[in-house]
Amino acid sequence: MIIVDGTGNTPLVKKVTEILETSVTKSKIQTFNDGEISVEMFENIRGQDAYIIHSLSYPVNDNLMKLMLIMDALQRASVSRINLVCPYLCYSRQDRKDKGRTPISARLIADMLEMKADRIMTFDLHAEQIQGFYTIPFDNLYASIVYKKFLKEELNIHPDSDSIIVSPDTGGAKRARTYGEYLDVPIAIVEKRRPRAGECEVMNVIGDVKDKHCIIVDDMIDTGGTMCNAAKVIKDMGAKSIKIMVTHGVLSKNAVEKLEESCFDQIYISNTIDNTEKLQNTTKFIVIDFAPLLAEAVKRLSEDQSISDLFD
Ligand code: R5P
Repeated sequence: MIIVDGTGNTPLVKKVTEILETSVTKSKIQTFNDGEISVEMFENIRGQDAYIIHSLSYPVNDNLMKLMLIMDALQRASVSRINLVCPYLCYSRQDRKDKGRTPISARLIADMLEMKADRIMTFDLHAEQIQGFYTIPFDNLYASIVYKKFLKEELNIHPDSDSIIVSPDTGGAKRARTYGEYLDVPIAIVEKRRPRAGECEVMNVIGDVKDKHCIIVDDMIDTGGTMCNAAKVIKDMGAKSIKIMVTHGVLSKNAVEKLEESCFDQIYISNTIDNTEKLQNTTKFIVIDFAPLLAEAVKRLSEDQSISDLFD
């Protein structure tokens, strides 16, 4: 097995390789002045089972092109299998044609990645049905494997803790229910509307958040609009405290400042996206390390062991 750092999340790759007691394959990825990317592998990798770890986060399109070129290099270097480990998979929010004359971007990404990859693994895919766009094996790891335990064991959330799990939109209701059932606490759902891409408005809240410690769970924070709006409404309805637990910290525009200034007590995000620089001087953010789970999943894939056993 070889591990290739796609450079989309080098700190995570470093942690994973440390856990697996291995090192990354020597390579050079550089960008020319006009934006073109060049890739060169420095080791003989013929016949190897290759794992490329690469988050398709900002700059999304550059990272995507980089990945395509790395896969092409690996294929031409005769590796036996290309396993894509994309902790964050881009374009997943554009998974259907919801108005006329628009692309289904998530499907196009699937077609592109499938040109070269033999298998793909990611965390908390925005919509599970995107797996159906792929014909290669697709493993979707749930952040809840880590987060549910964290809530129970570290934050001591239990049925008598006056806690409630909140979904910031109706699309996340199933996720909230999974947490609620595991912790045996009630759930609430905020009903939001998106007048335009990147903007959202809260319409309604289903459930009773008054005097409750609220934990809002979601798959991602992008501009922070969804979270801040949801928080404002549940605070106005009498929430005692508000924490956020999110998988992918996309954190675009001024999301970090917005979230730091908002009424959250704590913001838990994972390291599926590298936000080391952005979060340097923050006080509310706590990054939960997914490297141990990712390393275990990579190990299992390389040994043809079950991935779903990790979910138990
Ligand atoms: C939407 O369906 C997602 O689960 C997130 O709630 C959304 O993408 C977050 O975006 P933003 O932070 O820009 O509101």
